[in-house]
Amino acid sequence: MDQAVTVTVEDGVAVLTIQNPPVNALNAAVRTALVDAIDEANADPRTIAIVIIGDGRTFSAGADIDEFGKPFVSPWLPEVCNRVEASAKPVVAALHGTTLGGGFELALAAHYRIADPRARVGLPEVTLGILPGAGGTQRTPRLAGAAIALDMMLSGRPISADEAASAGLIDEISDGDVRAHAIAFAASLTEHARRPTGERRDGFADSIEYEQVIAAARQEFGRSPLIAQGKIIDCVEAALLLPFEGGLGFEESAFLDCLETDQSAALRHVFFAERRTAKIPELEGATPRPVELVGLVGREPMVVNLAALLLDAGLGVVLLESGATALADATGRVERVYDHLVSGGNVTAHDAAERLSRLTGVLQYDALSSVDMVIEATPEDMDIKKSVFGYLDGVLKPGAVLVTTTSCLDVNDLTQHISRPQDVLGLHFNGPGASAKLVEVVVGTTTAPDVVATGFALAKRLGKAPVRSGIADGLIGGAVMAASRHAADLLVEEGATPYQIDAAMRAWGFALGPYQALDAAGLDNELARRARMAHLWDPTAKVVQITDKLCELGRFGRKSGAGYYDYATQNSPGTENDEVMAVVALERQAKGIVPREVSQAEIQDRLLAAMANEGAGLLDRGIAHRPSDIDVAMIHGHGFPRARGGPMLSADLAGLLTVRNRLRDYAMDDVFWTPAPLFDELIKNGQGFDALNTV
Ligand code: 3HC
Repeated sequence: MDQAVTVTVEDGVAVLTIQNPPVNALNAAVRTALVDAIDEANADPRTIAIVIIGDGRTFSAGADIDEFGKPFVSPWLPEVCNRVEASAKPVVAALHGTTLGGGFELALAAHYRIADPRARVGLPEVTLGILPGAGGTQRTPRLAGAAIALDMMLSGRPISADEAASAGLIDEISDGDVRAHAIAFAASLTEHARRPTGERRDGFADSIEYEQVIAAARQEFGRSPLIAQGKIIDCVEAALLLPFEGGLGFEESAFLDCLETDQSAALRHVFFAERRTAKIPELEGATPRPVELVGLVGREPMVVNLAALLLDAGLGVVLLESGATALADATGRVERVYDHLVSGGNVTAHDAAERLSRLTGVLQYDALSSVDMVIEATPEDMDIKKSVFGYLDGVLKPGAVLVTTTSCLDVNDLTQHISRPQDVLGLHFNGPGASAKLVEVVVGTTTAPDVVATGFALAKRLGKAPVRSGIADGLIGGAVMAASRHAADLLVEEGATPYQIDAAMRAWGFALGPYQALDAAGLDNELARRARMAHLWDPTAKVVQITDKLCELGRFGRKSGAGYYDYATQNSPGTENDEVMAVVALERQAKGIVPREVSQAEIQDRLLAAMANEGAGLLDRGIAHRPSDIDVAMIHGHGFPRARGGPMLSADLAGLLTVRNRLRDYAMDDVFWTPAPLFDELIKNGQGFDALNTV
């Protein structure tokens, strides 16, 4: 087995190189090897100092996240850091790449830090629902003070080597080879040059200001739903108030508290879930086709947003319109996107001009003959899409990828009348503003693997979160949202108000309640979806027609100034409305329903059960590849709170048996709630959805 840490002695310096590709996570093998190597270097009379460096692309990305939630294996990372700090011979950390979390904490425990100028350092533990647990909350403020320490830990954002050096977190920035620099630096040190961070008080120089920063952070983050944020503030305060050892003990107990929370389980799940979405059979061994020039055909605002997205990512765009006026209008809109960015200071005028120089407007399909890919974003009408694909088939070069953005039409149908069905792929960008990160990559039965790989590669290049989806109305995200909306409608009929439902789901962490989201998407679109799906609806299942009645009153959502809420202007927050409640009362009356009290907990339980059940159905039908893909789709496309881990993980955390039993109870009254077969299969084997999150 390769050694986790190799040791060489150069110029009297023991060089400890961490070797755990790809990111030198500090797993048990690395920790053991580091402690052994520190001890050996201290015992070796040939060495006067020690350098710790990482092999490959980075110093270290921190603790091995995969080990959390499993029994701890000694030595713990805090012990390793303490051993480094206690080393009788001075220790220098040589940093390059991204030194994060426990990796940076290891460096902070060293007596000196030398960094490559491109290095970045950070304490991103909060993004995993935990806090720096290897001395980071105690050592960072000792060197840099409370403001910088809190900013790094509460945001999780890494900072540059320069910023870290000005904050006192890095001693020297190398202007050449960081390894050679660190060895030369270490070789110049004497034994007396040991400088334990735990004994330093640079950051405590002004204790009144320190406490003021703590108080301000408490004010700002006091209501944060992230448990770790409050605890980080407590730990940074403890750094000032307690002796170093006491502070480390305080940190340890806060770290363990965080680690046990559902939030941390959820956020760690999302970390791996996001990286797992690209691990699908089609991508094994497939090389994406090169894409540099993309054609766009379709309607605004989608094509305008897509054009800007593609230009921002360095691609060339050929925008096709049917007439000169429409073309001038569309290209003018793209220009205005950049005018806006320039006036807001987000892009320089020079960069905006460079990006716009890659945009070409054309009026004939022939002009698309050299593009590597065409994205069509025409209205959801199969005849229109088929005719567009027919034209494209006639002009595109061999190997060009044909992308449809549809979320509801069958990609397979689109391929039937063209000569290159293997080149067709769906890419559904969530939201017309293309602001949501989710891109559902829709794979048809004939889609070639390298075309799927091309879709994933493009989505990544655009900074998006691609998730594979089979063909289903609404794809993964739309189908799960539709189920939760229906569950909400049923509750409104039974006695809840739409506003109560929205408040309950916001309280649970959603960015928007289901009716706020529906108002944004358009009530008429929801009716169109229901009409498309009507043939699949179990005739014995309950149907709720409140949305239909609101549309009859001209309340189509935000775009018409009124939906479930009233909107004074396009951007104003909605206000509750009596007309809506009158419609609800009439519907209840017509069905003889006596409204009942519905609690916040019941709203949350029912909507989440409906989402997990729909997700299980999508897995049963092979639409979603694995449960964690559904979670990623919901988090990046539909405002599902990241710290809850997505609907499938939430069901696991609530207990699959509990959720299944709830569904069964609800199903006594309405077939809609019948649990998907997957529930029983998993429960029978003592498993949760997570058991299916394999690669
Ligand atoms: N533990 C375990 N695996 C890790 C890891 C970690 N800390 N960091 C990255 N990986 C894995 C990823 O899962 C991925 O595995 P895969 O190839 O099987 O999918 C592989 O390493 C490469 O990672 P990325 O795909 O993310 O590579 P990038 O180059 O895009 O990004 C990175 C590199 C910026 C280091 C990014 O991986 C990252 O942000 N990692 C997490 C850093 C972090 O949060 N550290 C804190 C850990 S918790 C901690 O240290 C607790 C301590 O305080 C006690």
